[in-house]
Amino acid sequence: MRSSILFLPFKRKIAPDPSMSLLDLSQKLSLPLTSSCGGKKICGKCKVIIVETEGPLPEPSDRELEILGPLIEKGYRLACETLLTGDAVVRIPEESQIGRQVILTSATHHPYQARMRPSVNHYFVEVPPPTLDAPRADRERLLFALKEAYGIQDPSMDTFVLRELPHALRSDQNGLTAVIRNKSEIIAVYPGKEEGLFGMAFDIGTTTVVGFLLDLHTGAKLSVQSAMNPQIPFGDDVISRIASSQERPDRMDTLRQSMVDCLNALIADASAEARIDPSRIVDVTAAGNTAMHHFFVGLDARYLSMAPYLPVLQSAQDLKARDLGLEIGKSAYVHMLPLKDGFVGSDTMACILASRLHRVRIPTLLIDLGTNGEIVVGNREKLICCSTAAGPAFEGGHIRWGMRAAPGAIEQVKIDPKNLDVNVKTIEGKRPLGLCGSGIISAVAEMIRAGLVLAKGNFNDQIRTPRLRKGKEGLEFVLAWAEDSGTAENIVMTQKDISELQMAKSAVFAGARLLMDLFGNESIRRILLAGAGGNTVDPHDARTIGLFPASAETEIIGVGNAAGLGACLALLDKDKRKEAQSIAAKTRYYELSGSARFQELFVSSMFFTSAQDWKDQF
Ligand code: FES
Repeated sequence: MRSSILFLPFKRKIAPDPSMSLLDLSQKLSLPLTSSCGGKKICGKCKVIIVETEGPLPEPSDRELEILGPLIEKGYRLACETLLTGDAVVRIPEESQIGRQVILTSATHHPYQARMRPSVNHYFVEVPPPTLDAPRADRERLLFALKEAYGIQDPSMDTFVLRELPHALRSDQNGLTAVIRNKSEIIAVYPGKEEGLFGMAFDIGTTTVVGFLLDLHTGAKLSVQSAMNPQIPFGDDVISRIASSQERPDRMDTLRQSMVDCLNALIADASAEARIDPSRIVDVTAAGNTAMHHFFVGLDARYLSMAPYLPVLQSAQDLKARDLGLEIGKSAYVHMLPLKDGFVGSDTMACILASRLHRVRIPTLLIDLGTNGEIVVGNREKLICCSTAAGPAFEGGHIRWGMRAAPGAIEQVKIDPKNLDVNVKTIEGKRPLGLCGSGIISAVAEMIRAGLVLAKGNFNDQIRTPRLRKGKEGLEFVLAWAEDSGTAENIVMTQKDISELQMAKSAVFAGARLLMDLFGNESIRRILLAGAGGNTVDPHDARTIGLFPASAETEIIGVGNAAGLGACLALLDKDKRKEAQSIAAKTRYYELSGSARFQELFVSSMFFTSAQDWKDQF
């Protein structure tokens, strides 16, 4: 009998393969096993428990011994390090499962309203039947009727529309409705008078994907659906995912197909909620970072991670939805918003479009605190952008107890400055499982305010409290004791975690400062925080850790999922597509990787200048 490996709690079986690690096998089964580093044996997040095995269990590697320590005795192993060849039962513990994330589906609170100028429209016509005296073919009769009724000259017609045309013309209903794109191509024909006209806008993020189903006549939002990005098992950040896409010849296709399946599921759910047939969706817009764009379209993303970090293309594209695999109207198009550079994608262009940064007079700083830290400084005169290698700390990556913004994640921390007691607020009020980005920022900000963390980022070892103690990586502060946590372990912030956050915040601060200098050294009076991280970060905490260069007067506004709103605007108003293109052309990209000034600012921004000992430092 063939051997098999059973993955619990999912009850999924697969035959062992001597060339595939447990991580590879779990990915083949599409199991939600976290692998933040994409199998590079760095993150230590792919922990599994070997419940039983018939075949040989390889000795743990040095890396496993270092990361797992005493957990090895309990059967824990790293999935990306472990190859099994015989029958086995493997459990993916809860802390290693990719959790449901709190996904930012709301649009910005910006009052800007869309003008209704969709790129597709309905045209109802009565087409005279053919006669023996005037033997005109179906297509020619329809074109003649459209010209007579609407002045539309010779639109082209997709093959799929031609196949439908004879049936639509000969139905028992009066007349025919043609759906015409930009008055130049007929993309659907329906018998009789058809009223509904629908489109979908997608925000394809590295971590989450959101789809908005909109009525193209009224602009009404009929449904908003969201999902975790199905490519997460191949790496949390775009660099890990690009590396993963090169590991196997079929990996690129796996990544692309997983995204197509995800978008089709969102389309199906949105259509079901709005009670429409998905085939009646006749237009789509999509915004995402450059790597997500390339994976979805099926473009080779490898050169994005090599200097000079160039994408395959930059301009907006109109692609047939069927060529991409989307299950909507057969002749419908997908408008991919323009990219700026390898690390500044159409999501940033959509953020600018939605926040109207390119139209305001006041110089404004826009920071997208998602998985990638994109920064734009600008106003109606000019726009400058960069992408900071902030690392995944804002999303919980590389943090000992870091996790995504899922139920059980600590999102806010309060420390009593007198007795150093800690209160944590978790998403959905569950027992704490770890810290999400806003929780990490909040914890460090509170520790600074309580005098526990000093200007250099080190713990104040003069403070006596059982919560500040020596751990295996040096001093650590206990945020939740094992008996109160949902993991039965103490949830702590380590010295290394604080250093990770220092590096992430310094990268954002230095990127923003550099762009502000390039912009003309004007002080910034308004900061817009976009993205999943941006909307939930407390501005007071952000100021305390020095996340951006802001004075006490600077107005800080959370603008929610601005990329999603930008994609919606481009769906409802075709002029916004041109505007996005002109934003991309107008925006200057500044590459930080070779900048000595950035390095200088990065190092000098490491300090916590609000710490109690800051003044003693200099
Ligand atoms: S250590 Fe295994 S996926 Fe990162």
